[in-house]
Amino acid sequence: METVVSGIRPTGNLHLGNYFGAVKNFLRMQETHNCYFFIADYHSLTTHPTPGDLHGSVKQVLVEYLAAGLDPEKATLYVQSDIPETTELYLLLNMNAYVGELQRVTSFKDKVRQQPDNVNAGLLTYPTLMAADVLLHKATKVPVGKDQEQNLEMMRTFGRRFNRMYKQEFFPIPTAFNFGETLVKVPGLDGNGKMGKSEGAANAIYLNEDPKVLRKKVMRAVSDAGPTEPNQKKPEPIQNLFTLMSIVSEPETLAHFDELYNNCEIRYGDFKKQLADDMINFTAPIRERILELSANEAYLSKVAKMGAEKARESAVKTIKEAREIIGFRHF
Ligand code: TRP
Repeated sequence: METVVSGIRPTGNLHLGNYFGAVKNFLRMQETHNCYFFIADYHSLTTHPTPGDLHGSVKQVLVEYLAAGLDPEKATLYVQSDIPETTELYLLLNMNAYVGELQRVTSFKDKVRQQPDNVNAGLLTYPTLMAADVLLHKATKVPVGKDQEQNLEMMRTFGRRFNRMYKQEFFPIPTAFNFGETLVKVPGLDGNGKMGKSEGAANAIYLNEDPKVLRKKVMRAVSDAGPTEPNQKKPEPIQNLFTLMSIVSEPETLAHFDELYNNCEIRYGDFKKQLADDMINFTAPIRERILELSANEAYLSKVAKMGAEKARESAVKTIKEAREIIGFRHF
């Protein structure tokens, strides 16, 4: 079975866009691959979170991914900082990572522009840490989006360079992997583009959204004055709401409102009310699990321990072999 590794940066809550994108990807992969999914808390130190914030956001990620269906019996689910071998491989890889190539990474250059007062070495070596995460388990597949392509290319470079330097095929060279086209693209509520938190909180529906807030967001979603002639093409804001309905509602509900639209009889108030009801029904069980899991520290601790133990098995093995290859010998 092929090995998959993916890291999750602890930044903010999951919304429906994440759920039908990255999360669905993970849920399918845990059935068919040997998966390691971890919370990238070392990586998050590049932005200097406070101790309280750090633990809180790691916990939130763990809780929400479990609530969304990640199964700790199927996938190895762990916290990056529970695997100290990560840092050792990071150090070893850094010895053959060149400052010039790291400086040319687009996301690094963006950070330098965005936060000129905090251009730390962790930011520069972010791709080496990411390479360590994946190579540590000798993974062959990395499920990441377009924005991570360059980091993935660096990871491949570091793996190949190590193999060449020590003249053996030690690290398999990982490739990008996702179900891409088969995943639904979830639009946002602001009338254009996809759901995302950077477009403002009102644009996204979170899995742990309070039903009252959810309803308000949907009722305020961008629409228009309504169709003026039968069977006219839906403009983007309206099409987006229909797409959202196709995701959370019964097919008959969708067909019903589609017909009303085509007959110019649709009332957006009713349409949005139905959409809000169905979104609440869809997210309610996940939200309930989020609340339950948040209060169950004993279970979270068990999951994290189990994940760390499983992840360390391959991590310890890789580090032991890498040390030997490099030439470290015990006296
Ligand atoms: N950089 C990734 C992101 O921002 C998170 C990440 C860290 C990751 N380590 C990884 C992803 C290893 C895949 C593999 O989303």
